[in-house]
Amino acid sequence: MKKYLLFLMVFVFFNLSFAADGEKRIAAVCAGCHGTNGASVGDSIPIIGGQSEDYLKKVMKEYSEDKRVGSVMLKVAKGYDDKRIEYIAKYFSKQKWVSSNKPFDKKLAEEGEKIAVICFDCHGKNGKGMDEYPRIAGQHAFYLKQVLKEYKDGINKNDEMSLLKEYSDEQIEALANYFSSIRQ
Ligand code: HEC
Ligand code: HEC
Repeated sequence: MKKYLLFLMVFVFFNLSFAADGEKRIAAVCAGCHGTNGASVGDSIPIIGGQSEDYLKKVMKEYSEDKRVGSVMLKVAKGYDDKRIEYIAKYFSKQKWVSSNKPFDKKLAEEGEKIAVICFDCHGKNGKGMDEYPRIAGQHAFYLKQVLKEYKDGINKNDEMSLLKEYSDEQIEALANYFSSIRQ
């Protein structure tokens, strides 16, 4: 019985330290670009700390299978199988969301607010994210603009986001500034 307990304790300890080490190692790989715990500071690199777990899982899987547009992420994600992707998604979704601290255009943000209600249907009130729908509030304006253009131009293909085809470049710029301006 004692032996069994000892074995159990060693086993549990080993697994706990392995898990902690695994998290640190993953965070270190991603931190080079996405910042500490996914709070990216470069405005062309999305904030991923505190992002929806389902969305993170979906995106990483798509990158790893070349089913999504991207640059570096197409290479990065290939190093991770399904199990690791699940682990990564869980890890980053549990981090605190730290909103962008990059400047935004106040006037454009006001314009964006007037046309943003339709986006709440899926992205939640004020764009804070809902289930598999990503958080867009407090994301870098530069990244939002870029990714919205990709949906508009059909480079980034997604049925639910195909509504962006109806938007002008000015409206996209306004929406990007508005959602980025929501920083609580
Ligand atoms: C060399 C820089 C770099 C590294 C390292 C990196 N990323 Fe990225 N990541 C990017 C860029 C740039 C984008 C935007 C898409 C693209 O260009 O590929 C991105 C996009 C993403 C997205 C999409 C977010 C969204 O809102 O759609 C996720 C998720 C992501 N990265 C997760 C990770 C994880 C997890 C790691 C570590 C395993 C990682 N990245 C490592 C640069 C990097
Ligand atoms: C019918 C539901 C729906 C509506 C309405 C909608 N979205 Fe989305 N949005 C999605 C889904 C689903 C995704 C993830 C798509 C993917 O995997 O590429 C997404 C992705 C995004 C992204 C990419 C996030 C990232 O981190 O890369 C942005 C930005 C975005 N939406 C902004 C908007 C804006 C602005 C509006 C309003 C004009 C809007 N969405 C309306 C469903 C919706």
